Amino acid sequence: MSATKRPRLSVIGTGYLGATHAVCMTELGFDVIGMDVDIDKIAKLGSGEVPFFEPGLAELLRKNLDTGRLTFTTSFADVADFADVHFVCVGTPQKKGEYAADLSYVDAAFAGLAPHLRRRALVVGKSTVPAGTAARLADLLTSRAPSPEVELAWNPEFLREGFAVEDTLRPDRLVFGVRSGWAEQQLRAAFAPVIDAGTPVLITDFATAELVKVAANSFLATKISFINAMAEVCEAAHADVTMLAEALGYDDRIGRKFLNAGLGFGGGCLPKDIRAFIARAGELGVDQALTFLKNVDEINTRRRQRVVDLALELVDGSLAGRKVCVLGAAFKPNSDDIRDSPALDVAENVQRCGADVVVYDPAATDNARRAYPGLVYAGSAQEAAREADLVLLLTEWAEFREIDPSALRQVVARPRIVDGRNCLDPTVWRAAGWTYRALGRP
Ligand code: UDX
Repeated sequence: MSATKRPRLSVIGTGYLGATHAVCMTELGFDVIGMDVDIDKIAKLGSGEVPFFEPGLAELLRKNLDTGRLTFTTSFADVADFADVHFVCVGTPQKKGEYAADLSYVDAAFAGLAPHLRRRALVVGKSTVPAGTAARLADLLTSRAPSPEVELAWNPEFLREGFAVEDTLRPDRLVFGVRSGWAEQQLRAAFAPVIDAGTPVLITDFATAELVKVAANSFLATKISFINAMAEVCEAAHADVTMLAEALGYDDRIGRKFLNAGLGFGGGCLPKDIRAFIARAGELGVDQALTFLKNVDEINTRRRQRVVDLALELVDGSLAGRKVCVLGAAFKPNSDDIRDSPALDVAENVQRCGADVVVYDPAATDNARRAYPGLVYAGSAQEAAREADLVLLLTEWAEFREIDPSALRQVVARPRIVDGRNCLDPTVWRAAGWTYRALGRP
């Protein structure tokens, strides 16, 4: 255990990242205050309700509220009074009509907190930001905080939705971008239980810490688009990309993870992070270094069109008046997040081609309905598939993998399916009488 006294923590921004961080840091033994400008979100969290779907988080929230060590507020003054280390976890979405990141929430969080910082404190940025942002925010803190002893650190977060609790309690590494030994000490104290469990710590400058996150997400996106590019080649060469991925994965240098070909990546991170990275590289005068990421983005979006094309092929070239069942709305399973969801993008495009689309998702229906009110939603896969001319499986929920093809065949009008995630066994589905098509496999 570190010699530095256990700091009291604040978490500013209680979305997927911040809410999980606040709950998990309490679980690790700290006193934590969570803060958000959204009154509804704070009211829900304070009463033990998680405002989004994340496995295991609600139970952990209630358990930690009961300890009395986790509280929530909407006031920056409360946060500044309470905590020694402040984690800023607000979102950095893509700017409308541009590639660059929208930093308005980060700027607002720092501007809101700084004037209340009247004693020594460390402010830790966790949001994903373009390189150079931390240096600018450090100046902002120095000029606006009443205390001269306020410092900034950058600590990128790598958690995956659906595994957020596990990734926060047991991260595979900690990256601390700091400018002083004191800042490092504070961070080591704030993560003492995680560090004591053997997690590697890397101490870097601000810019490197900022870049680690976008570089990691760029690599992951590139890996997915690589296998999806191979899927395009497999389709032309009549090869099977799922076997190709398995065979590649045995090479330790390559690894099997993130080689699942299909409809490609979406969500609140990978797509906007690679675009913001391209934009920032342009500003830094090194746009050529990241030209390949444009290609990664294009390969990814091409897969969405490919599913629409496969759908058209299966219904003899016209979707007009066809009933199409879409299984999946979330950008990935075990999440209700529909930001840049490939599934909903395809659903909307199929509808634009004249089809009557009925969508079912185990967790994301409410969010999908709000964002895509023009689509029709069902309460189960069976209901969505009733009288369907075509089924599109677009998010690989375990529930969909377990569907009995013979039972589903009883409810559809025509047994035709596009497996957009390569998650079904073609042999089993074909044996049950289905016309089965997938991406990158015969
Ligand atoms: C990602 C990073 O993994 C995480 O480290 C970072 O902190 C935030 O961004 P997340 O967006 O939660 O996490 O999802 P992830 O599990 O990475 O999946 C991203 C997308 O890629 C999903 O749409 C998923 O369906 C897709 N994907 C993933 C594939 O298409 N194929 C794969 O092999 C893996």
